[in-house]
Formats: sequence, structure tokens, C-alpha cells
Amino acid sequence: MNSPDSAPLVLAITGASGAVYAARLLQSLVAADIPVHAVVSPSGAEVVRQEIGLEIGGNSRDLNSLLSYCWPSDSKWPKPSEEDLKKGRKLVKVFNHHDFMVPIASGSFLTRGMVVCPCSGSTLSGIVHATSQNLVVRAADVHLKEHRKLILVNRETPLSVFQLENMHRAAQAGAIVLPAMPGWYHGVQSVVDLIDFVVARILDHLQIPHQLIRRWGTPTSGPSCIGTSPIDVPSGGTE
Ligand SMILES: Cc1cc2nc3c(=O)[nH]c(=O)nc-3n(C[C@H](O)[C@H](O)[C@H](O)COP(=O)(O)O)c2cc1C
Repeated sequence: MNSPDSAPLVLAITGASGAVYAARLLQSLVAADIPVHAVVSPSGAEVVRQEIGLEIGGNSRDLNSLLSYCWPSDSKWPKPSEEDLKKGRKLVKVFNHHDFMVPIASGSFLTRGMVVCPCSGSTLSGIVHATSQNLVVRAADVHLKEHRKLILVNRETPLSVFQLENMHRAAQAGAIVLPAMPGWYHGVQSVVDLIDFVVARILDHLQIPHQLIRRWGTPTSGPSCIGTSPIDVPSGGTE
């Protein structure tokens, strides 16, 4: 049964740089017991192969390798346990990039939102122009038309006027444009801290609890302590 309580989150992985964000996000969703309906574009699979050396294949029916990935030699991102992997296999379903017969192609199937992470400029353009040329773009269009949460984690620099205009139009249509731009104010000590900054902001917008990063204004004993008392928080805060 597809009830609001058991509704899955849609995760699309497309061909922008930043495959690690997808791996960390997927594992965080599983850790939070969130069912995931995933789609990987062929370019997304290529970037995963290039950047973290995993073969997931554009039409792969499983993301087991992504579920078992960890950042090399950083205890902040330990190797997932057998139990985590078992849970992941149960919670994560993967759909073909060109299959429009699957549940997430229709607004009648309930979801708790959609994240495109990472989101290529090409997929952004397809979403903004409502082309529905593949399942990622179709599912994103469904989320916009149903006024559900759609988070776009773009990664590109510098940005062309076209990309800026497309981001503007996506935001006007109700999407949350959340580029992979890690902040440095949470006591960064390793690459995993930077990855976690972006994943934490995604989870925050989905209202999924996590402890990936120390929040601004909360105490720490580390040397990179910043903003530990309310008086340190600048007006307007940080994003
Ligand atoms: C290794 C690699 C890295 C890429 N990085 C980016 C990127 O950071 N941002 C982006 O918008 N496109 C990037 N691209 C280009 C996209 O993959 C390309 O536009 C592709 O058509 C996107 O298809 P998709 O949106 O269906 O995944 C990259 C391609 C490769 C092979």
C-alpha cells in the first residue's frame, strides 16, 4: 500500500560531479529508515565510475556498491556493516532511466519528495522545460505539478547565464536549488566534513533527523570552535 507514512523518497543520480554526495545521502536515508526509489542516468553512472570507481550501470537494478561505499581512511565515514547493507537492500529500489511505467512516473503515487543529487545542467534544463524525456525529468515534473518537495543539488562552476536562468526558473516553480557548495564554518577537518555539510542541508530540507554536522551556535570542544554562544551568531545567520 502506498500511504503517506510509508511513502518513499525519490533519489535521482545524474551526471554532475559529486558522486560521493549521492553515496553519503543514500546511506543516510537508509540509516533513517527511509524507503528510497532511485533512478540513475547513464551519465550519472559514468560519473560514479570516474569519481569513486564503482560500476553501478545506468540501468542497474541495485545500488549495493553505493550502499557499501565509504570514504577511504576516515573514521567519520566508516564502512557500512552487513546489517546496514541488508537494510539498504530492503529499502532501496532502483528503476530504469527510461521506464515510464513505474510508480514515480505518476502523481497518483505518493512520495515524500525528490532529490536530484548530483543534478547536471542538462537535467536541470530538462526539468525547467518540462521535457519529460526520461524518468528523472518526468518524476521531477510530477513533483512540481503535485507541489511536492523537489531538491536540486547542482554542481557546476562557473555558471552560464543559461544555467543561472534555469536555476531561477526552477526556484520560481517551487524547487529548492541547493547547489553542492559546502560551507567551511562547521569546524572542517576533513573531506568528509565538506561532504556532510551538503548532505546535512539536504536532510534538513527533507526534515530527516541526522547528526552529520555540528550546527552553528552549538558547543564544541574542538580547536575549530566557531559560533559557540548565541552572541556569535551574525544577524541573518548562515546558510
Ligand atoms: C566525469 C564527468 C563529470 C561531469 N561533471 C559535470 C558537472 O559537474 N556538472 C554538469 O552539469 N555536468 C557535468 N558533466 C556533464 C554531464 O554528465 C552531461 O551533460 C550529461 O549529458 C548529463 O546527463 P544526465 O543529466 O542525463 O545525467 C560531467 C560529465 C562527466 C563525464
